[in-house]
Amino acid sequence: MMTIQYATREKADSYNALVSAVAAEALFLSRTTGYSLEQSRAFVQHNIEHNVSQFFAVHDDQVIGWCDITPSAKEFHQHVGTMGMGVKHDYRGQGIGTKLLQATLTHAKNRGLERIELDVFASNTTAQALYTKFGFVVEGTKKKAKKYRGAYEDIVVMAKLF
Ligand SMILES: CC(C)(COP(=O)(O)OP(=O)(O)OC[C@H]1O[C@@H](n2cnc3c(N)ncnc32)[C@H](O)[C@@H]1OP(=O)(O)O)[C@@H](O)C(=O)NCCC(=O)NCCS
Repeated sequence: MMTIQYATREKADSYNALVSAVAAEALFLSRTTGYSLEQSRAFVQHNIEHNVSQFFAVHDDQVIGWCDITPSAKEFHQHVGTMGMGVKHDYRGQGIGTKLLQATLTHAKNRGLERIELDVFASNTTAQALYTKFGFVVEGTKKKAKKYRGAYEDIVVMAKLF
């Protein structure tokens, strides 16, 4: 059975492995490698301590999806959060991203965030369709903002206001 749960320290290592796997696909995130175990554990610990909106999709005790909305640390932007998410390759297209996003957005709204923003690669139309379903709108395009192995790609900026 798949469950959507708030981030826990116990699942931090499994989350770390998933981020590495999605990064290694080199198609969706802004890096090809993940983070160290120490970085991921500290990130999850920080999120729990600060009630940051971070949810995991868990199946067979393994994290197979994550979604987080990190509030800005800047004085004038504390009502703004930046979203990131990913679902393990074999589990995509089964509604898990939808459930993760629903839980994470609800939490972010309840903790007082008013604007959720994100960057998505222009080619990632699956993610854009998911975000549009939840009321995100395209605010603009950063031309050639990604460069990987000599190939440029635009970044689409999307945001949702509560
Ligand atoms: C984007 C991602 C998180 C979506 O998660 P998911 O579990 O596959 O999403 P869902 O199954 O809930 O589908 C959500 C929506 O995405 C779109 N979608 C899903 N699969 C799709 C496909 N094969 N083709 C086109 N659109 C698709 C649909 O709009 C769908 O909504 P609908 O089923 O109501 O029509 C997932 O594909 C993923 O992890 N991709 C790689 C990492 C990534 O892109 N992260 C975001 C970086 S900005």
